[in-house]
Amino acid sequence: MFQKTKQDISKTKQSVYQTGIEKQHKRGRLHAIERIQALLDKDSFNEIYSGVQHNCSEFGMDKKEIPYDGVITGFGTINGRQVAVYSQDFTLQGGSLGFLHGRKIADIIEAAVNARCPVIGINDSGGARIQEGVNALAGYGDIFYNNVLASGYIPQISIIAGSCAGGAVYSPGITDFVFTVKSLSLLFVTGAKVVKAAVNIDISDEALGGAEVHAQKSGVAHFLTEDEKDCFSTVRRLLDFIPHYYGDTVNKYGPEKHKFLQHKPVFSKSKLKKITEILPEKQTQCYDVHGIIDCLTDDGEFLEVHAEFAKNIVVGFARIDGIVTGVIANQSGYLGGILDCDASDKAARFIRYCDAFDIQLLTLTDVPGFLPGPQEEQKGIIRHGAKLIYAYAESTVPKVTVILRKAYGGAYIAMCSRHLKADFVFAWESSEIAVMGAEGAVQILYGKDLKAGTKEFEDKKEEYRQSFMNPWTAAKAGNITEVIKPEETRGRIEAAFSFLAEKKSGLKIRKKHGNIPL
Ligand code: HXC
Repeated sequence: MFQKTKQDISKTKQSVYQTGIEKQHKRGRLHAIERIQALLDKDSFNEIYSGVQHNCSEFGMDKKEIPYDGVITGFGTINGRQVAVYSQDFTLQGGSLGFLHGRKIADIIEAAVNARCPVIGINDSGGARIQEGVNALAGYGDIFYNNVLASGYIPQISIIAGSCAGGAVYSPGITDFVFTVKSLSLLFVTGAKVVKAAVNIDISDEALGGAEVHAQKSGVAHFLTEDEKDCFSTVRRLLDFIPHYYGDTVNKYGPEKHKFLQHKPVFSKSKLKKITEILPEKQTQCYDVHGIIDCLTDDGEFLEVHAEFAKNIVVGFARIDGIVTGVIANQSGYLGGILDCDASDKAARFIRYCDAFDIQLLTLTDVPGFLPGPQEEQKGIIRHGAKLIYAYAESTVPKVTVILRKAYGGAYIAMCSRHLKADFVFAWESSEIAVMGAEGAVQILYGKDLKAGTKEFEDKKEEYRQSFMNPWTAAKAGNITEVIKPEETRGRIEAAFSFLAEKKSGLKIRKKHGNIPL
């Protein structure tokens, strides 16, 4: 075994860094230590447990030295605030995870919990270190356990900075935000070679688990970034938005109170005029809801999460009067903003994140319903839609909903209606709150007697529209707080959130925990 003095370890580490840096640069990538330096504030990193060495002797490992057991761990600052970090070194045995490598990661997560700060993992690993057998699997188990322990208490961020194979995928899968980098990230349970051997499918690693696949299709990745630099600066931006632990008020409230925040809340009133121009005249025409979000939130303050996945719903962090706010908005410009399995999952996970960290919720509703048809039914739209309902109903943070246009059927209820305990629900004058659209309703009620397209059919549609497709019926029933003009929206939202600043949740039933339909 390697008996080394403190000076030896330090010298070895520097030369290992140097060799590794050269290797990684040849591949067009940063080395594990350079990644930490690029992510953290300058000269703020403190490395810990750098002397750790594996104790495996199988498969010639007794002759193999793996400095710091292939993972650099420690702490430093981002935007002046404390974070814990680990970075796997691919140049050392492929960043593979042996028992002590795993323990170092599990320990830094635990240290972050104790210090109450975010933990960021820079993942670049071939998975369980094969030579260490079951001991390597144990290392993963320890990490998963601590990921779950930390969940909802400190933010956990995973950067996929290379290959992430086998056991290496499940820790990112548990964490709150997964960042991928174009042409760099690979994330799969088994790589292309194993897929060919096991199920005889020819596919490239990139097509199997590349950055785009996970950002656009699987939904595993929340952020798709251009390169490593873009990735680290987006992580830094995210950390400027979110509370750094449950109960943290530094990032939650405005910069007047807290010196750390990088921004000043500014809201340009001129934006309010624009809001009336965004909705098209015809109810059937689409628009981009980002325009509305921009009109309602502090200037330049929207960080979209899961931007490439389930685009029919938009979720992200903004600020209203400087206070961090989770925004959930149906995207009319993509599939008409309909709710399907993926959109429900995406929104539900975001809502639960915000609720865990006391981030108030602003919901912008324009939804024609849940997507009908055998494909969605077989994928389990009932199970997935139920997650959305559950997440909204369970959340106890301040909740304000604005119905912009359509709010039909179950989707109206699911999008943070008063019945799911929204604190305030505002509806624009031209909005339509109904069981369903006029065409479908008249077809069901009169389809046997009236032919679609005839004058009688159209008359019935108009009658239905007049009676039901407005916000007034819901307002009369007390299901809408106020019917408002679009230009009033920002003021109403500001006043509502300000009123709710000290909100404490009401009804509580004693139980261990609910059973969310996962
Ligand atoms: C030990 C490994 C390793 C591993 C890579 N290496 N993965 N050593 N255990 N899991 C070593 C290689 O032998 C090589 O060593 C060096 O790392 C670089 O690897 P290359 O293959 O040359 O690199 P590259 O071509 O870039 O391919 C990267 C890769 C590939 C895609 C990650 O190495 C790969 O497919 N590895 C195995 C992935 C996998 O199936 N893992 C699952 C493990 S089981 P030298 O000495 O030549 O430089 C698992 C289950 C855990 O993780 C479940 C927990 C619940």
